[in-house]
Amino acid sequence: LKKIAVLTSGGDAPGMNAAIRAVVRTANYHKIDCIGVRGGYTGLIEGNFTKMGPRSVSNIINLGGTILRSARSKEFRTEEGRQKAFEQCQKNGIDALVCIGGDGTFTGAKIFAEEFGVKVIGVPGTIDNDIFGTDFTIGYDTALNTAMEAIDKIRDTATSHNRVFFIEVMGRDAGFIALNSGIASGALDILIPEKKDSLEDLFETFEKAQKRGKTSSIVIVAEGERLASTYELAEQTKQRFPDYDIRVSILGHIQRGGAPSCADRVLASRMGYGAVVGLMKGLTNVMAGIRSNDLVFTPIEDAIKKHNEINQDLLQIAEILAM
Ligand code: F6P
Repeated sequence: LKKIAVLTSGGDAPGMNAAIRAVVRTANYHKIDCIGVRGGYTGLIEGNFTKMGPRSVSNIINLGGTILRSARSKEFRTEEGRQKAFEQCQKNGIDALVCIGGDGTFTGAKIFAEEFGVKVIGVPGTIDNDIFGTDFTIGYDTALNTAMEAIDKIRDTATSHNRVFFIEVMGRDAGFIALNSGIASGALDILIPEKKDSLEDLFETFEKAQKRGKTSSIVIVAEGERLASTYELAEQTKQRFPDYDIRVSILGHIQRGGAPSCADRVLASRMGYGAVVGLMKGLTNVMAGIRSNDLVFTPIEDAIKKHNEINQDLLQIAEILAM
């Protein structure tokens, strides 16, 4: 292994920079050349490369976003696009790719590896935490804390004005941010795609809360909730309880930004290091992850197809504690 390239792709996540830094410095330690690809797979197709060394990743461990920039490349989804990317790899003597991102990133990496025999290793970076083969993904902890802090602030208004707030948090298909930020901020109800929610259950929860003398409430809705959109849920609730003073708040991309938490910096450092170690061991088409505090490698195919289950205890805890 002489030369590797590192890229970030898909939605940015806090801690991606710490992962880039770990890849670059571990490679340097083992005397492997490292180049950075700017702009994800688009940059790979265009040959938008930059030589990376220990100093080019100074002062970035604490930065959100990704210094290499990211993209959701349409061209890389085509065979022509991937052919161009392969030619760039050949031209620049790239032996292997470290791809930091989520399931879209890994799907692209897997196809690319299978088509052209380029060695690839994935590092899970997404706030959604929806990747199998690691207990946590890079960015999730930071996003969770950002969501929790935002919900805490909204609670002040909910309490002061006796209001009901429907707060939508990110998670395209997953409810990890919703469930955990909901428990941490004392939400009355939490709606996530992994469990079957119904309007009747939601209304019953409101009724019980009212009987207990609750004067304000927060309901957390995962972006990927299938029952209805957050605005529709609020609308239906208003029709059922016309006296309620209801507001909707969509937290949005605030959850993707900001300085990574300590947990995310350490996680990213371990997985970035792990990616280079994995490549040195001759592994390819796998993802580096941390499970039960150990570095593990999971076939990329499993990382994409399998799913981390929502913890059933957490669901029950959320229900019992929401009084
Ligand atoms: O995958 C991370 C994520 O933030 C999801 O929670 C969300 O659905 C999506 O990305 C939004 O992507 P974009 O920033 O491209 O609109």
